[in-house]
Amino acid sequence: METKIAIIGLGYVGLPLAVALSKSYTVIGYDISEHRVRELKEGHDRTREVDEAILKKSTLQVSTDPSAMLGADVFIVTVPTPVDATNTPDLDPLRKASTTLGEILTKGSIIVYESTVYPGVTEDFCGPILENISGLKAGKDFFLGYSPERINPGDKIHTVEKITKVVAAQTPDVAQKLAQIYGKMNNNNTFIAKSIKAAEAAKVIENTQRDINIAFMNEISLIFAKMNLSIHDVLDAASTKWNFLKFTPGLVGGHCIGVDPYYLAQASKALGHEPQMILAGRAINESMANELADLMTQRVGRPLRLLVLGLTFKENVPDLRNTKVTDLIEALKKRGHQVDVHDPCADAEEASKFFNYSLVPVLTLDNHYDGVVGAVPHDLYCQFSNADFGRFLKPQGWIFDLKAIWRTSPPAGFNYWTL
Ligand SMILES: NC(=O)c1ccc[n+]([C@@H]2O[C@H](COP(=O)([O-])OP(=O)(O)OC[C@H]3O[C@@H](n4cnc5c(N)ncnc54)[C@H](O)[C@@H]3O)[C@@H](O)[C@H]2O)c1
Repeated sequence: METKIAIIGLGYVGLPLAVALSKSYTVIGYDISEHRVRELKEGHDRTREVDEAILKKSTLQVSTDPSAMLGADVFIVTVPTPVDATNTPDLDPLRKASTTLGEILTKGSIIVYESTVYPGVTEDFCGPILENISGLKAGKDFFLGYSPERINPGDKIHTVEKITKVVAAQTPDVAQKLAQIYGKMNNNNTFIAKSIKAAEAAKVIENTQRDINIAFMNEISLIFAKMNLSIHDVLDAASTKWNFLKFTPGLVGGHCIGVDPYYLAQASKALGHEPQMILAGRAINESMANELADLMTQRVGRPLRLLVLGLTFKENVPDLRNTKVTDLIEALKKRGHQVDVHDPCADAEEASKFFNYSLVPVLTLDNHYDGVVGAVPHDLYCQFSNADFGRFLKPQGWIFDLKAIWRTSPPAGFNYWTL
């Protein structure tokens, strides 16, 4: 019998997965956002993860009506797992998605969570909701699974079809079945984890490890800045050692690296263990906007008219969620600078709606800035020539290159600074 799959949540993670699986299976995509479903029906993916031509050709059906999922055998949940204003995990989207699924699942259903969580959320938080609503028993009537998502938005190399997919389930048979299902989209590049909790933990430490490594780079970059030493010069030398781990300093934003460690920290605290390194890493990374604003201000010693290049949380994506460039802009304003912002990838309406920023539409001579801040290494900025800078930056103006974008040949005729 043909396997029918439902994907719940069609964002950065859910949509590419749904499109990839729809090459081998009947796939129904469900999302609560009317706006999202409408744009997908029109063949447009605002996240730019799936090309218009591929989306239009796909057999994927999308709907805001949960009943469209009736009859599916496997349900894959890819809803957000954010933190609230106090950095406490917000499991509400998972609660709501599980409540919806509780009404739909039947005997034999498999419910797989892909959202990043701390160990225990699938079996101890989502499972009971599904059981209560459906009246069925997890592990007996229906089965839970977990398969962490590792995609990296904007990365066209490590796509969902090319990365190893970790899967786990309540029983070995179900885990095998999931490995087969996911294996169809990535040439059987799957790994069956020992347990659901092990798979949940694996994902959250992958991102926490990255956060801590970046925090170390941020800390040493601040120490070296006080020594008038560029961390990049240091890294060039240190990374010639075979086992040196090369990360680079910067703002850590977005909804994964800067969020997931709080999930692990919360689980740790609930067990009475104070997670010192995890939270120290978070604190250092959270402090970087202020530290960078201080370093730049000390360098010039007076308020400047600045243009920040890049607002999204990382390069070449339109995603503005939890971008830390806003912290930097506000920190610069607090220190007396006048700040404009430009971003070729961000949606101007979203920038205005979320942060009340009017993005500079084009870079012209009319805006003669005292300094520019390279905040996000979008491709457009990486290709800037001297002449490009001359279009919007005063002669001898400042280039604050926070991501070492132009470090190998700093534009001539300007003051250049990087960490
Ligand atoms: N984006 C990434 O880089 C990435 C990578 C790996 C893992 N993850 C994890 O994957 C999960 C999803 O992240 P994302 O970036 O795709 O989020 P997203 O915000 O891009 O997409 C989530 C989608 O779920 C929908 N949704 C919310 N509640 C729903 C509900 N109750 N029922 C149905 N749909 C609902 C939203 O409307 C939205 O379209 C998160 O846990 C995230 O941590 C994300």
